[in-house]
Amino acid sequence: MKPIISPSILSANFAYLANDIEMINGSEAGWVHIDIMDGVFVPNISFGFPVLKYVAKLAEKPLDVHLMIVQPEKFIPEVKALGARIMNVHYEACPHLHRVVQQIREAGMLPAVTINPATPVAMLRDIINDVYMVLVMSVNPGFGGQKFIEHTIDKVRELRELITVTGSEALIEVDGGVNLETGARLVAAGADVLVAGNAIFSAPDPVEAIHALRNL
Ligand code: DX5
Ligand code: ZN
Repeated sequence: MKPIISPSILSANFAYLANDIEMINGSEAGWVHIDIMDGVFVPNISFGFPVLKYVAKLAEKPLDVHLMIVQPEKFIPEVKALGARIMNVHYEACPHLHRVVQQIREAGMLPAVTINPATPVAMLRDIINDVYMVLVMSVNPGFGGQKFIEHTIDKVRELRELITVTGSEALIEVDGGVNLETGARLVAAGADVLVAGNAIFSAPDPVEAIHALRNL
């Protein structure tokens, strides 16, 4: 199966954001990955709902929203109002993860749980049958353009096993330092969805970079 490509607009040119969204619309990308940061859960701030309202209007692909914020459940109505298909919340930000996952579903979105590099796959055992997707961070969240953490390959393999053993249908998405080289190994290990920022937006031809990732 070809991987779904979810370009992260964190690496887009915010002065000409419409151009980058239109590039994604005309590419083989499956989704648009949107990174929301609060300066508390992660040491950076990206963009918020007033900006994303315009992104959502222009984007023709489903929105894959990744919340790197504390208490993400507070913003379920705002994410829903964007028309997002997928809402990713961090395991580390949700003491009552099961409740948050149900709330996301009740709001009519697909729930995904994200784990940081130091969070073991085993912590997902009791939620894996309730989620649409698991997002495995392959860098410490907060910035684009960081170096891929090698151990992620083992984590993806382990997650693939957990999904098989539990009969879950969850997709596996990987985010951080994804390029043609790491992407090929991630897909071989069992990844279904690749997020990429730098590898797409710093490429001379971003549409071609998306095509190459899609056809690894
Ligand atoms: C990092 C974000 C990523 C980031 C990936 O905190 O969650 O989505 O944009 O950027 P690259 O692909 O450049 O590592
Ligand atoms: Zn992300």
